Amino acid sequence: MSNFINISEVSKSDLRKIINHAKLEKKNISKKLNKPLADKILIIILENPSLRTRISFELAMKQLGGDVIILNPKESHFGIGNESTEDTAKILSKYGNIVLMRTEKHKNFLNFSRHLKIPIINGLTNLSHPCQIMSDIMTFEELKGPIANKKIAWLGDGNNIAYSLIEASVQFNFQLSIACPKQLKPNNKIIKWAKSKKSKILITKDPKEAVKLSDCVMTDKWISMSDRVNKNKKRKLLKPYQVNKKIMNYAKKDAIFMHCLPANRGEEVTDEVMDGKQSAVWLEALNRIHVQKSIIEWCLKYI
Ligand code: CP
Ligand code: NVA
Repeated sequence: MSNFINISEVSKSDLRKIINHAKLEKKNISKKLNKPLADKILIIILENPSLRTRISFELAMKQLGGDVIILNPKESHFGIGNESTEDTAKILSKYGNIVLMRTEKHKNFLNFSRHLKIPIINGLTNLSHPCQIMSDIMTFEELKGPIANKKIAWLGDGNNIAYSLIEASVQFNFQLSIACPKQLKPNNKIIKWAKSKKSKILITKDPKEAVKLSDCVMTDKWISMSDRVNKNKKRKLLKPYQVNKKIMNYAKKDAIFMHCLPANRGEEVTDEVMDGKQSAVWLEALNRIHVQKSIIEWCLKYI
């Protein structure tokens, strides 16, 4: 059984297989669709709101011929503390073939996954967002060719997206430069892991240094769904890390801009960049569908 929880836990060759298969899925979309998952059910559990993750997984499963059940935790016994995680996971294992879960706390996600008898996919926790970064890899390669040895710059919060990006920099072998205030550096464990794998990772306070001659500039909201922080204090710290036209000029001329969305326009990114020629944000969201298909098929051993 294969779970998709973190990018560092999947082998390099399987990650490449998932990306290549997603590219193929995208090419085949206009042709007669293959429906390998005709008798399969995906159960989606979302503890926090979602637009892209929920809809792209639903579309992916339906395009593969399967079906989807969406469980709002507040409407289940489990969600209101009326049934144990263990019992809920055992029951869902009888009803479905695969689970997609978005939880606030990564440790709750892991606890749930331990009791489940079917594969589970991480649809975002406070720690990581692997499905998003897989779509970003696909998007980058669609626009700029192989990502290996390219330079990606991350500006802003060292959050869950940054965590998965760091893992991907090792697994897909690209250069990663992160600019953030020292109080908001990414998870120390994952930085150590990346360094132990001889990653090409740079962490700096200087946004210009990070962006200089990069092929892609990425950022994310300054306040994440799971953040329980002083928001104004955090915003103040992150102000110098906004992605605007001026900072984009330090990147390569043909560099792209990526953002997982939702964005807080005017905060971490200006309208000019979001809506500008270099922006790849809409393609990133579209590619989620094809990457989700590929991840589901990988978990269920169809690829
Ligand atoms: N990028 C992303 O995961 O978006 P949603 O929160 O809308 O799912
Ligand atoms: N860092 C953001 C990502 C949303 C897709 C959050 O966790 O809210």
